[in-house]
Amino acid sequence: GGVHENERHESGHKHVTGTAEYIDDIPEPSGTLHAYLGLSQRAHAQILSIDFDAVTSAPGVIGVLTAADIPGENDVSPAHKHDDPVFATGKVEFHGQPIFAVIAETRDAARRAAARVKIEYRDLPHVTDVLEAAAANYPLVIDPLKLERGDIAAGFAKAKNILEGEMRIGGQDHFYLEGHISFAIPGEDDEITLYSSTQHPSETQHMVGQVLGVASNAVTINVRRMGGAFGGKETQANLFAAVAALAAKKYHCAVKIRPDRDDDMTATGKRHDFHVGYKVGFDDDGRIEAVDAIFSARCGFSADLSGPVTDRALFHADNCYFYPHVRLRSRPLKTNTVSNTAFRGFGGPQGMVGGERMIEDVAYALGKDPLDIRKLNFYGGEGRNLTPYHQTVEDNIIGRIIEELETSCDYAARRAEVLAFNRKSQIIKRGIALTPVKFGISFTKTEYNQAGALVHVYADGSIHLNHGGTEMGQGLYTKVAQVVADEFQVDLNRIKVTATTTGKVPNTSATAASSGSDLNGMAAANAAQQIKARLVAFAAERWGVSEKDVAFEPNTIRIGAERIAFSDFIRIAYGSRIQLSAAGFYKTPKIHWNRSEGRGRPFFYYAYGASCSEVSVDTLTGEYQVDRVDVLHDVGKSLNPALDIGQVEGAFVQGMGWLTTEELWWDAKGRLRTHAPSTYKIPLASDRPRIFNVKLAEWSVNREETIRRSKAVGEPPFMLPISVLEAISMAAASVAAYRIAPRIDAPATPERVLLAIERLRRAA
Ligand code: MTE
Ligand code: MOS
Repeated sequence: GGVHENERHESGHKHVTGTAEYIDDIPEPSGTLHAYLGLSQRAHAQILSIDFDAVTSAPGVIGVLTAADIPGENDVSPAHKHDDPVFATGKVEFHGQPIFAVIAETRDAARRAAARVKIEYRDLPHVTDVLEAAAANYPLVIDPLKLERGDIAAGFAKAKNILEGEMRIGGQDHFYLEGHISFAIPGEDDEITLYSSTQHPSETQHMVGQVLGVASNAVTINVRRMGGAFGGKETQANLFAAVAALAAKKYHCAVKIRPDRDDDMTATGKRHDFHVGYKVGFDDDGRIEAVDAIFSARCGFSADLSGPVTDRALFHADNCYFYPHVRLRSRPLKTNTVSNTAFRGFGGPQGMVGGERMIEDVAYALGKDPLDIRKLNFYGGEGRNLTPYHQTVEDNIIGRIIEELETSCDYAARRAEVLAFNRKSQIIKRGIALTPVKFGISFTKTEYNQAGALVHVYADGSIHLNHGGTEMGQGLYTKVAQVVADEFQVDLNRIKVTATTTGKVPNTSATAASSGSDLNGMAAANAAQQIKARLVAFAAERWGVSEKDVAFEPNTIRIGAERIAFSDFIRIAYGSRIQLSAAGFYKTPKIHWNRSEGRGRPFFYYAYGASCSEVSVDTLTGEYQVDRVDVLHDVGKSLNPALDIGQVEGAFVQGMGWLTTEELWWDAKGRLRTHAPSTYKIPLASDRPRIFNVKLAEWSVNREETIRRSKAVGEPPFMLPISVLEAISMAAASVAAYRIAPRIDAPATPERVLLAIERLRRAA
């Protein structure tokens, strides 16, 4: 059971048999109360009065919580901007903003009672759209970022061709299966224990403390697993934890809060939608000379994680391409919508879609295969390795990835076949595209790149493993257990990974930015190595051999010529009073980032990948299907190929949903009208690619010293399905003989595809 092997997910069998325990499955102490949020029915308004009479007189209601019940600060802002109230006071800034909570004997009673409130509002002008916000001079939620290198004026002056364009890229709801939930149990004095579906237990701990007005040492957060998170529980869990904690303290009862799906979708943040305005200069071969682009994002009413999200959009607008002269700017705009947050890729996907759109435009302008334009512009060669943020790309393997995929999926022949098919076929048109991914690994907030772990070896030889990372289905617990099993050379089933808790490992970072196994794997290895060093020293002394003659072999310790079973040896070590527990620590080396100068090395390394997608589009309806997808993805030396392939497949389908069918739609009143699966279309099993070949680049080894030379896998493959969007675009472009850039905005819903086909036919 070591590393680099196909171990099953530690809870896989429990997930499929329904025995994995989620927070709503925890047995409730008697007298448990339930909270439900009361949400704003206006997008932007002053609150003139609130009448709770009908709420408090409803059956089963115990009471109502408002901002007046908060002993500490009415704020859960992760950006420390104090702009994220738990409960709105005086003014609401988006439709669906929490104003109060009802506490009742049952969840149903609380939910029904919350709807009986009477609130008088005075409406204020509101803005939900990015460009409207810019036109209305709405403020930015955080200082914008500018990345600049070279001299764009000189670059454009030199370029033989210049092209300008714009693109809209939609947001996305996380659609985790387990929605937000928090369960609080009050303790004595200022103490409180919570079970929270959070990716960031330490921040939830800090926020609960801030709202209750108590120190972090009074708050314990426990997370065994989440039923999916995808970035949606990096900050958004804090509000629910704070409300449960407030109620638990006020009524001295256990309190649980769980919004239903509509309210979860309405009241919590999503992926940012973007508008990208770009100008690109290039020569007649398609070699890029200069790029100037502005990325405007719908941030919602507060900062939340919009800083890191819009920054990461700029960091990925180059994707795999060298821009000799470049200026990239972010515009993180305030809007009267829910505050947008982290979502797999953190803005990187939006930045990359913008970059790939420029490539596509250049290709159509020159009448070439977009893949040829890509290859011409890849990083590599003399003086062509510097990113717009002045980090040198040192580990570039995109050339080999593309070459292998192009050959294995027979790209050239299939593209010729698609072109031939389209010449004959009247109604069904096909498209094919092969696109690359380069994704930077590390939190751009440098202090987050640290982790801790706690390893106990009990006297019976069983091992208890705890670390700061959270399990959301991605398999982190399995991977870190594999690392510890490998360190001690014991079977995987000797190790129990225990629920993440702020009481065992403090000051942890969010499990995010794909860094979970990089950080926690290293911290756990460090803890195991400390215990091993003590055991080796002990064995050498007791048996009178040199330390180098002590070795950990499968379930055995070899001391000189003698072999002792692991558990027997541990029993002896315990008897000799050897400390069998250690706290491990890790921090990522080499990285640094100066945001105001837009320079540094924000990323420890890059993960690469590529995909080739083929689609067919019905030009009468705009409907399409994905016929075939081939992926070659780089995870360095995989810790667990089975889990990694699962991550690549899941990310691909989730990214495909984002770029095709998942559409968020707000009405004129600023109400999100796509707030349930009836109106919001995530991919179904029937939408999966008909043929889906996913391979890992088995030859890849991380050149940096990561845990067992692996690479992060959580987010990078999310951007692979840009090839689906581009294949759909190609099918549409066929109706105008590929002479006009199709420029389909994302998501490419059938409706949008049909409109694009009609537009292209008219223009042809
Ligand atoms: N996989 C599953 N099954 N569920 C999830 O919620 N989240 C993704 C990715 N894969 C997610 C997932 C996101 S957004 C990130 S950042 C990483 O997992 C986090 O885990 P890791 O750092 O351990 O890869
Ligand atoms: Mo992932 S968006 O970094 O949680």
